[in-house]
Amino acid sequence: MDELSTGLSPTERTRLRELAVKTAEHAYAPYSGFRVGAALLLEDGAVVTGCNVENCSYRLTSCAEQAAIARAVAERGPGIRLRAVAVANLNGAASMPCGACRQTLTEFGDDATLVLYPGEGGAAMETTLGELLPWAFRAEYLGGKG
Ligand code: THU
Repeated sequence: MDELSTGLSPTERTRLRELAVKTAEHAYAPYSGFRVGAALLLEDGAVVTGCNVENCSYRLTSCAEQAAIARAVAERGPGIRLRAVAVANLNGAASMPCGACRQTLTEFGDDATLVLYPGEGGAAMETTLGELLPWAFRAEYLGGKG
C-alpha cells in the first residue's frame, strides 16, 4: 500500500511505530513478559496510545490495542475514527493484533484503516483492518439496534 492510498507519509508511519514502542515500555506484563504498545492515529490527527495491562487472574488482561481504544474514547469521545494503528512489542517478536483486538479496532475503523506491525527480524510490516478481519461482526447485524 502506498502513501497516496493511505494519506500517511513514511515519516508519519515511522513516528507512529516509535510511539507504540515507547508506550510498550509502560506495559504491565509480569505474567507473560510480553510488553505491547499500540498507537492510534485518529481521523482528526490526534494520536492516542495504550499498553497491555495484565492481571493475576489472566482472563482480565487488557491488550494494548483495547487499552488505547478505551483511552481514545475517554479522551476524544465516542465519535473517534481510526486512520491508522501501530502495534509494537519489546520482545523483538513478529506480532499482529489478536482476534479480539481486530474486532475492537473494527468498531472504530474501516477496511482501509492502516495497521503497522512488526514482522520477522524487526521488519516494518503493514496491512489493513479489512485484510486482518474480513468477516467482522458488524453493527448493522444488530438490525438498527446498534
Ligand atoms: N497482547 C496485546 O496487548 N495485544 C495483542 O494484540 C496480542 C496480545 C498482550 C496480551 C498479553 O498481556 C500479552 O500480550 C501476551 O499475550
